Amino acid sequence: MASLAPVGVFDSGVGGLSVLRDLRRLMPAEDLIYYADSAHCPYGGQPNAAIQARAVAITEELLAAGCKMIVVACNTATIAAVEHLRANYPVPFVGMEPAVKPACAMTRTGVVGVLATGAALGGEKFHRLLAQHAAGVRVITQPCPGLVECVEAGDLKGAFVDELVKRYVQPLARARADVIVLGCTHYPFLRDAIQAVAGAQVQLIDTGEAVARQARRVLEREELLNPSAADGGLEWRTSGDKAALAPIVRSLLA
Ligand code: SIN
Repeated sequence: MASLAPVGVFDSGVGGLSVLRDLRRLMPAEDLIYYADSAHCPYGGQPNAAIQARAVAITEELLAAGCKMIVVACNTATIAAVEHLRANYPVPFVGMEPAVKPACAMTRTGVVGVLATGAALGGEKFHRLLAQHAAGVRVITQPCPGLVECVEAGDLKGAFVDELVKRYVQPLARARADVIVLGCTHYPFLRDAIQAVAGAQVQLIDTGEAVARQARRVLEREELLNPSAADGGLEWRTSGDKAALAPIVRSLLA
């Protein structure tokens, strides 16, 4: 059966809009409700239990709004909460997957860099992915404190952003990483700054599109796709200051 109900998408803040862009492209008929948990951002550095409690509260709000599926558009929240959500709520959940497998398949130098929050890099799931897919590849993990906050403030370029990006990306470039995984949904908004430091020959992997494809597959499998021929709408909500966030949301979606 087709469904006209909306799809919920949430992140610690505005980073998940990088995934939402791909969702809109790959399933344009769906109505989307995006929730930016800006009052509790960043999630990186918070205990798993606190992140899980936020994921539960947001899920309940999105379900009360009638959502038929929820995309956890945040790597850190996926690690902390997606299994709990799947076990406790009756809708499908799609989470982020750090692209370790494709990165390890693509590297020619045998060195891959992964940029993410410390929480995402320390998770058991990430270590499982390394054990499964990184044999013979040197994977250098790099936590990036401060980058999420730059994107939240709408600062995508400038001296401060460049300095932070240089601090995190230069060691990967020096180690001859030829593939770098953007393991946090905020980082695609800093793609230009990251590419400039990494070098044009380095492949940056953003998993937004793969996650959007998976979300579409799940809707198809569950027979929940919106059959409308018209474009769906977007409603966005935040636990933060909506008026202050509005220009940043507009510019990130432009
Ligand atoms: C954060 O809120 O610290 C980052 C979110 C993410 O991992 O995508």
